[in-house]
Amino acid sequence: MKLILLGAPGAGKGTQAEFISEKYNIPMVSTGNMIREALKNETELGLKAKSFMDAGQLVPDEVVIGIIKERLDNEDCKNGFILDGFPRTIPQAEALDKMGIELDKVVDFEVPDEAIIARMSGRRVCGACGSSYHTQFKRPEKDGVCDKCGAELVQRKDDHPDTVKERLRVYHEQTEPLKDYYAKTGKLRIVDGQNDIAAITKATFAALED
Ligand code: AP5
Repeated sequence: MKLILLGAPGAGKGTQAEFISEKYNIPMVSTGNMIREALKNETELGLKAKSFMDAGQLVPDEVVIGIIKERLDNEDCKNGFILDGFPRTIPQAEALDKMGIELDKVVDFEVPDEAIIARMSGRRVCGACGSSYHTQFKRPEKDGVCDKCGAELVQRKDDHPDTVKERLRVYHEQTEPLKDYYAKTGKLRIVDGQNDIAAITKATFAALED
């Protein structure tokens, strides 16, 4: 299965991508996690991306398209993948089309901006494996420690409310038009992202099977 997850920052794409990945045994391909990893390792890409990311801006298309092309060529993507955070602009979607990828579904998680700003302040992520938690809605078994790998949980720099507001502005301007782009293909499914996590997972699986 080849999927795209769309939605505003903090709409729950990463959370649902983890459940889908487990159920269908396909890798989750998160451009955000890949860029953060590059940043941590201080690679050329990481250094290039840092200022954009910290300011809540998108990293230039050509950089992200290059990363995705390389990643999707990996053996583990042969039977499918979940794109979480890509594409985020029309040129990125066009680049994906040019790669000849036949998508099965595009799922869009809808959450109003006010709810997003409240949600982001409680997000904690694993500094080592990138798994995502929430201080209220998705607590780890032990406070501050990742259930999956035992590393420390940290708050993302770009989850500061002012940066979240800028990320939302960029989302509405550059990413939201992708809903129309994929609606035209008949593959777009809308999921209400305001429910509790388990209910959204159920709705997501139903959307994938219809
Ligand atoms: P990226 O890491 O992709 O961030 P994002 O899309 O802005 O989205 P998030 O990961 O913040 O949110 P999410 O929807 O995955 O929500 P989550 O499940 O974590 O990108 C970061 C940056 O990298 C970008 O700003 C850009 O600079 C760069 N970048 C990345 N891709 C790029 C691209 N293609 N082109 C250019 N630049 C790119 O949920 C959020 C929180 O809410 C969590 O704590 C979670 O536990 C909680 N939660 C989830 N569901 C619920 C629920 N139903 N109820 C209550 N809480 C919930």
